[in-house]
Amino acid sequence: MHIKKTLLPPDNLKPLYADALKLPFGRTFTDYMFTMEHHRGRGWHDPEIRPYGPIPFDPAANVLHYGQEVFEGMKSYKTDTGVVLMFRPRENAKRFNLSLRRLSMPEVPEEHFLQALCELIRLEERWVPQAVGSSLYIRPAAVSTEAALGVKPAESYLFFIILSPSGPYFAEGFNPVGLWVSDSYTRAAVGGTGEAKTGGNYAGTLLASKIAKDRGFSQVLWLDALEHRYVEEVGAMNIFFVVDGKLVTPKLTGSILQGITRKSILQISSDLGIAAEERSITIDEVVEGIRSGKVTEAFGAGTAAVVSPVGKIGYRDEVHVISEKAGPWSRKLFDTLTGIQYGKLPDKYGWVYRVV
Ligand code: PLP
Ligand code: COI
Repeated sequence: MHIKKTLLPPDNLKPLYADALKLPFGRTFTDYMFTMEHHRGRGWHDPEIRPYGPIPFDPAANVLHYGQEVFEGMKSYKTDTGVVLMFRPRENAKRFNLSLRRLSMPEVPEEHFLQALCELIRLEERWVPQAVGSSLYIRPAAVSTEAALGVKPAESYLFFIILSPSGPYFAEGFNPVGLWVSDSYTRAAVGGTGEAKTGGNYAGTLLASKIAKDRGFSQVLWLDALEHRYVEEVGAMNIFFVVDGKLVTPKLTGSILQGITRKSILQISSDLGIAAEERSITIDEVVEGIRSGKVTEAFGAGTAAVVSPVGKIGYRDEVHVISEKAGPWSRKLFDTLTGIQYGKLPDKYGWVYRVV
């Protein structure tokens, strides 16, 4: 694929941030973005890297009414020697296509997805921060653009990629966050879109998230839609518990996002000396385990959040405190994962992808 490039005069480039660790998540954007269009009968066409800026939409565009949209969340890291890396980008390319299929949208060939990322990040290399805890957050997304109010898959789409240098996702940094269990609202049901990364999954959670925040918690811990008994995941990350010295994470049921961080943690855990289990875990088991001391740690795992220790869980008017500080496994997994991502530890599994 040949990507057309429209470049700015050097004087028109934005000034660089002073300290990437102080950048709030997803608020600063780089100079350029990637765009590519799709029309029925023509396929994907006109790949282009152009100055970052607003995209005009017809007010009748399908996405604005029915939410035919999918996105990905990835990061690019700079090593001590200035090499720019991505972490398992092919996994994101695959999940992007899984989400596109679920939303009846045209898939993007994996090679084109990777090429677009690489060419854009190479051009924006100066924006990739070096300090562990900061990174260049990458947001690929696809939306339906056809101006038509009938409920049906659209005949035209836009795929775009934007980049955002960011510090840590949570204001708490590596200090434990609090989760609030919602036993009335649900995020996703089996057969729905929970496994896809689509905007509607997030819009539907905002009300419960607000309740969680009002009660002093950072995010919602979601339960299954049918019985409100089984733990599923958190608003923007998968969940892990240390139960009886074993790592436990809910098994994928079809309504949980298949996290790439989750999958990576499951793979490295045995190397680090902890057994890992994917199984159903009820909220009662978690709460009783915290009470009895069987559950010694909990943490969330995701691209934006990396490994985020969970200090307390609010459930039915009771607050169950796990720990005031990060536990040893959260720390070890955070260090190992970021060590691989920032090129400080050997890349034993071939997860690191060199961009520059
Ligand atoms: N679950 C949800 C709902 C998410 O938004 C994310 C973030 O991407 C994750 C889990 C973690 O997935 P990953 O590790 O691939 O970033
Ligand atoms: C990510 O971890 O990349 C995500 O997509 C989470 C996001 C919703 C903030």
